[in-house]
Amino acid sequence: MAINFDAWFAEQTSRVNRALSDVCNSPNARLTEAMRYSLLAGGKRIRPLLCLSACEAVGGDSSRFFHASCCVELIHTFSLIHDDLPAMDDDDLRRGVPTCHRRFDEATAILAGDALQALAFHVVLTFGKEQGGRAAIELAESCLAMCAGQADDLEAEGKPISLDDLQCIHARKTGALLSASCRIGGILGGATESQHRALSRYGHHIGIAFQIIDDILDVTESSETLGKPANSDLKHDKATYPKLVGLKESRRLAREALESALDALRKFDQRAEPLRDLARLIVERHA
Ligand code: IPE
Ligand code: IPE
Ligand code: MG
Ligand code: MG
Ligand code: MG
Repeated sequence: MAINFDAWFAEQTSRVNRALSDVCNSPNARLTEAMRYSLLAGGKRIRPLLCLSACEAVGGDSSRFFHASCCVELIHTFSLIHDDLPAMDDDDLRRGVPTCHRRFDEATAILAGDALQALAFHVVLTFGKEQGGRAAIELAESCLAMCAGQADDLEAEGKPISLDDLQCIHARKTGALLSASCRIGGILGGATESQHRALSRYGHHIGIAFQIIDDILDVTESSETLGKPANSDLKHDKATYPKLVGLKESRRLAREALESALDALRKFDQRAEPLRDLARLIVERHA
């Protein structure tokens, strides 16, 4: 159990990074280079950390699951590579370095995303039919939701939309994978039905909070701090919380989502403290 959140966070992150490096390979050298370039460039590793923390929260032993927890980071990195492509958000900087299609080329970036997606399922299915199978279904459903959310996001560019519709886009494009990260951790840790539902509720709320904060940071932080281009949403007139309700109300809604996430964990004991800390980090972060 974490005595000090910062030390715990640093230790878990470096173990996740080692596991990611272990699993990331393909039969083609240039493709492997592109996959490893985007995957190992950095990143907060929030999704695997949620997975490992959810496992601990339900009484599981997360030290057995560093490789399994990579599945959500592999899907996430695939989504980032494709999100940055000229046909999507057309961005040049990611995790502090040129985007995959800029450093390599568009075809390689598309294939690197495809390969990372396949790798994610390969990794999770090594955990056997029972746990691996259930986790793979969660992963597939969240990946489908993420793609649908990304399609919604593109369709909403330059259009007025309601707050309900915006919340639905955010829940799909970002929330689904964050929420699945928690449920997968629960599955690996042997969660009961009610723990599974609580993790799902927690994940839903932090998912919304995560993208509200991402929208806020896009307009309040520099490209240098973010490691990705600031004001990218303005460029495409994206539907975002600050655009729809302003910065102050966006911050209030993110804090409200944080409270709902913490409330979802109220029946968990101190083993859920890392999950609570991660929820706070998601809302208080500056990058
Ligand atoms: C950025 O995700 C993309 C969104 C879903 C908003 P992160 O902020 O988790 O990016 P990394 O992994 O730290 O680079
Ligand atoms: C993307 O949202 C969410 C994904 C599924 C990748 P954004 O387009 O806002 O993410 P960033 O700001 O480029 O990281
Ligand atoms: Mg996008
Ligand atoms: Mg983007
Ligand atoms: Mg963004």
